[in-house]
Amino acid sequence: MAVDILGILTLPNWLCGVMATLLAVCLYTWYKQRLFHRLGIPTKKTVFLLGDFVDMVRGGFSYLGMDLYKRYGKVFGIYLGNVPALVISDPEIIKHIMVKDFDHFTDRPPFLKLTKFWKSAVSVAGGDEWRNIRHTISPTFTSGKMRSMTQFLQRSLDVFHDILDKQIKASPNGFDIDPTVRCYTMDVICSTGFGLDVRAQTNPDNPFIKYSKRFLETSPLGMPKFILYILFPDLADMFPRLFETSFMSKDIMDFFMTTTRSLFEDRKHSESKHKDLLQLMVNASNLAETEKISNSQRKGLTDEEILINSIIFMLAGYDTTAAGISWVLYELALNPEIQEKLVNAINDEIGESPLSYDNVFSLKYMDMVLSETLRIHSPATRLTRMPDRDTEISGIKIPKGMNCQFVTDILHFLDEYWEDPYTFNPERFAPENKDKINEYAYLPFGVGPRNCVGMRLAQLEVKMTVISMLRKYRIYKGSELKVPLPRSPYGLARPGAPVHLRFEPRGRNK
Ligand code: HEM
Repeated sequence: MAVDILGILTLPNWLCGVMATLLAVCLYTWYKQRLFHRLGIPTKKTVFLLGDFVDMVRGGFSYLGMDLYKRYGKVFGIYLGNVPALVISDPEIIKHIMVKDFDHFTDRPPFLKLTKFWKSAVSVAGGDEWRNIRHTISPTFTSGKMRSMTQFLQRSLDVFHDILDKQIKASPNGFDIDPTVRCYTMDVICSTGFGLDVRAQTNPDNPFIKYSKRFLETSPLGMPKFILYILFPDLADMFPRLFETSFMSKDIMDFFMTTTRSLFEDRKHSESKHKDLLQLMVNASNLAETEKISNSQRKGLTDEEILINSIIFMLAGYDTTAAGISWVLYELALNPEIQEKLVNAINDEIGESPLSYDNVFSLKYMDMVLSETLRIHSPATRLTRMPDRDTEISGIKIPKGMNCQFVTDILHFLDEYWEDPYTFNPERFAPENKDKINEYAYLPFGVGPRNCVGMRLAQLEVKMTVISMLRKYRIYKGSELKVPLPRSPYGLARPGAPVHLRFEPRGRNK
C-alpha cells in the first residue's frame, strides 16, 4: 500500500507512518519546550528534543553552576528532554517555597516513575504519607536519643582508629582515606539505626558496602525507562505502569530486602528495649496494626514502609556522611593554619575528656570548619520541590507540578551573600558573623519541614571523627593528592579521585 501526496509523490504506508510519528514528536517537543517562553522566564539554550540531556551526560548531575546563573539570572528554566525544571537562586523565593508556602510545596518532583514500594520511602513519599513517615522517624534524632547513640558511634570509631593506625604504619607517605571512611560510616548507620553489627570496616568485601556502592553509582542515564520518561512525560502519566521502575537491580534489591526483613522480624519478636530507628518503626508497625483507619489519617507504618525506609536510611546515612568527613580532612590538609587552630580549640575546650554529644556540639570552631566545608563541598548539589497547584511568587508564575530546583553550586557562591566565595574561610560562620548569613542561600542540609532528617547524626559523626583524628595526628596532603580534588560527576558530590592524605602522629615535627 502507498499514499499519493498531491499527485507529486507516492510514498509507501510505512514511510508515511514514520514521518507522521516524527512530525508528532517534533510538534510535541516544540510545544513542551516553549513553556518557559510562554511564562516569560529566560531559558538555557538546549538541544531540540534532548534538552539538557547532552550536558548532563557530559557533566553529570552537577553540570548546573555559576556560569548559567551569570548568563540567565536568579530564575531560569531548563529542559531535561521534555521535562521542564525551574532553577531558582533567589533566597526570598526559596524561603517562600521551603517554609512559608510549604503546605503547597510538600513534595519532591519525580525524576522517574517509581514503583509503589519506592514511593513509600520518606525521601520520595508525598503528602500525608510523607507526613506520617516523617512524624514517625523524626524522634530518632532528638538530643536524648543522640546522646545514647554516642556509645555505638564510639565503638565504630575505635575500630576505625585501629584500622587507621595500621594503614598509617603500612603507608607512611599517604593513602586514600575515602574507602576506610566509607566502611566506617556504614558501620555507624547500621549500629546506630538498626543495632546491627555489620563490621564493614574489618571486611573489605562486606556486602553492605558492595551493594550500596553499586546502587549509588547507578546512573539513570543508562536506563531506557528514564530516557523515555524525560522524552515523553505525558505518556508516562497516561500509562504509569509501563514506565514504572524500581531503580535498583534485582540482586541489590534482594540483598537489602532479605537483610531488612529478617532484622525487622527479629526485632518484632524481641523482648529487649532498643532506642534506635528500627525500634521506632517497629513500634509504629504495631500501632498500624491496631489502628485500622483511613489512609489519610493513618498513624504508624506498614511492613513495606518499614522495609523501604530501612534501606533508604542505610543508603542516605552512609555516603553523604562519608563525603562530609573526606572533604573536611581534605580542607584541613590544604589549610594547615586552620587545622592548627582547630587542634588548639580541641585542646582548650575538650582536653583529654571522652568525646560526648555535649562537648562535641559545644566546640564552635569545629562547627565553623564543618559549615564552611559543606558550603564549598555540599554533598547534595540539587534540592527540589514541586507545587500542588498553579501559583505565583515574586511575579514568577509556577505551574502545578513544576520541578523547582535549588542548586548549591550556585547559591553557596553568590557574591551577594558570600564575600570572596571561593576562599575556604570558616570565620564567616563565627558566632559574630552568623547573622550575616542568609539561611536560604545556604542549604547543605536543606531547610524547612522537609530538611535532612539525619542532620544532627551526620554532624555528630563528622565532628566526632575529625576531633578524634586531630587529637592523634597531623594531616598533610599526600604526594598523589590532586588539588583541586575533582568530584564524582554523578549522584552525590563526593570526591571523584583518591583523597590521598598523609598522617603523622602529633608531637612529632614534620
Ligand atoms: C553530611 C551528611 C548529610 C548531608 C550533607 C545531607 C543532606 C541532605 C539534603 C540536602 C537533603 C534534602 C533536604 C531538602 O530537600 O530540604 C537530605 C534529605 C534527607 N536526608 Fe540527609 N544528609 C546527610 C546525612 C544524612 C544521614 C546521616 C541520614 C540518616 C541517618 C540522612 C537522611 C536523610 C533523609 C531520610 C532525607 C529525606 C528527608 C525527607 O524527605 O523528609 N541524611 N539530606
